Amino acid sequence: MQGSRTPDLSQFAEDVLHGLSSMPKQLSSRYFYDDEGSRLFQQIMELPEYYPTRAEFKIFREQKDAICDVFLSDRGGIDIIELGAGDGAKTSVLIEHFLRVGSDITYLPIDISQEANDALEKRFHRNFPTLRISPHTGDYFKVLEDLNSDGSRRKVILFLGSNIGNFQQNSAVDFFRRLRRVMTDDDRLFIGFDMQKDPRVIVAAYDDPQGVTAAFNLNLLTRINRELGGDFDLTKFSHYAQYRPVECAARSFLISREKQTVHISALGRSFDFEQWEAIFMEISQKYTQPMIEELAEKSGFEIETEFVNEDDFYVNSLWRPV
Ligand code: AVJ
Repeated sequence: MQGSRTPDLSQFAEDVLHGLSSMPKQLSSRYFYDDEGSRLFQQIMELPEYYPTRAEFKIFREQKDAICDVFLSDRGGIDIIELGAGDGAKTSVLIEHFLRVGSDITYLPIDISQEANDALEKRFHRNFPTLRISPHTGDYFKVLEDLNSDGSRRKVILFLGSNIGNFQQNSAVDFFRRLRRVMTDDDRLFIGFDMQKDPRVIVAAYDDPQGVTAAFNLNLLTRINRELGGDFDLTKFSHYAQYRPVECAARSFLISREKQTVHISALGRSFDFEQWEAIFMEISQKYTQPMIEELAEKSGFEIETEFVNEDDFYVNSLWRPV
């Protein structure tokens, strides 16, 4: 793109260049999950303040019979495809149930971290020796296209853990529309939504006192240093999280504690930061029921059924193409 100095910038490099040249500066949370980032997210899920994982777990544990029932198709076996499977811990609750009742299932976890996939595969082989499992590493859509399913088995696509929260509203619609295009009418989409709740509970989940979430955000600067030859000094940035109750959006930022210049050699460029200037890092969108309905409708789906955790305000929604 930028002439001969940067002949073939990777997508990552291009996005960093674009993000740090923007006003306000931003970096994309999709790049959080290198192997270290995936490990840090595992730690986040253990934090007492980070409720979404446990909220979804509770739904799976308490309602697994009903969930597995709606996944099954009269047409026979199903392929369970999980986008961003991570450690697959929640999904294993459903897998265990399916195997116990003798359902014909194949599990296809997709993740961008090879290390996370390897660990998942090892654990699932050990725990479920009879399970047909086929992990894929890479971009969701590339993998989905390569799966080249012939449509003879129902695909149930899982997008759990409120991962959809990382998309701005318009991108969420684009994302689901793209999924819709690789689905047949019999396929299903199962999504985890974190709902609106006490703003204090949400802020605490994204600003833990142990600083794990801060480390998770800062790790992207480390990744830029390593992969793009950046010279970010992590001690000069601090993590800041806020929640806006009207928009139902949690956002996180890295704040430049002083005026500074950062050079990134793969981009052949420097970037100036004012003192207290923010880099917008991540949105974690929360939902209301009307927002979910609107999202389904705009994306070409209708809600077939929902599984609700009333205590933690969390919903798993099963969508069918219209
Ligand atoms: C993995 C996108 C669901 O937004 O709650 C956790 C990521 N960021 N703490 C979320 C995250 C900070 C998480 N998702």
